Amino acid sequence: MQLQHHSSVILVGPMASGKTTLGKLLSKRLNLQFVDSDQDIEKRSGVSVRTIFEVEGEDAFRDRESKAIAMLAGQKGLVVATGGGAVLREQNRMALRQGGLVLYLKPDIETQLRRTTGDRKRPLLQNVDRRQFLTEMNAARDPFYRQVADLVVKVDNRPGKKMIGAILAKMVQKAWVTET
Ligand code: S3P
Repeated sequence: MQLQHHSSVILVGPMASGKTTLGKLLSKRLNLQFVDSDQDIEKRSGVSVRTIFEVEGEDAFRDRESKAIAMLAGQKGLVVATGGGAVLREQNRMALRQGGLVLYLKPDIETQLRRTTGDRKRPLLQNVDRRQFLTEMNAARDPFYRQVADLVVKVDNRPGKKMIGAILAKMVQKAWVTET
């Protein structure tokens, strides 16, 4: 499968929507390099996202995130998984739109809750009522994800391979990818 018309594919969407898992699978099918913006931030800083939140605070994390987004959006031939809050800043939204074909992975709340059971890595999910928090955050951010997205993909508990099959079928239909 080959990507057409766009330099990269960028995945946006809330926490636990499958950006990393589906991004890796998609990158293999499209023969592109996979990059995860949170992992890039962790590699550059040498510490975890959670530690950055704890030591420097969320604003400082968002500054690091904006730098990572600007850098990754400027590259070609990638499948980029972004953090759930990557769409919060307008400068990021502009960079994402210009950076490639943007897919919004939109999970149902049950899928998100199941996947985040016992999560200790995501700072925003600690010590909150997860159902309420995620429901409100999804609603608040949905317009931003839609603003940058070329396609909205509903994500449920289907296995990754099935999800990728459905995503690629849609991309072929739109002539964003060709079979060869
Ligand atoms: C965040 C999502 C996380 C990570 C950070 C903040 C958010 O990424 O960037 O914890 O604001 O939604 P994932 O979407 O990969 O969990």
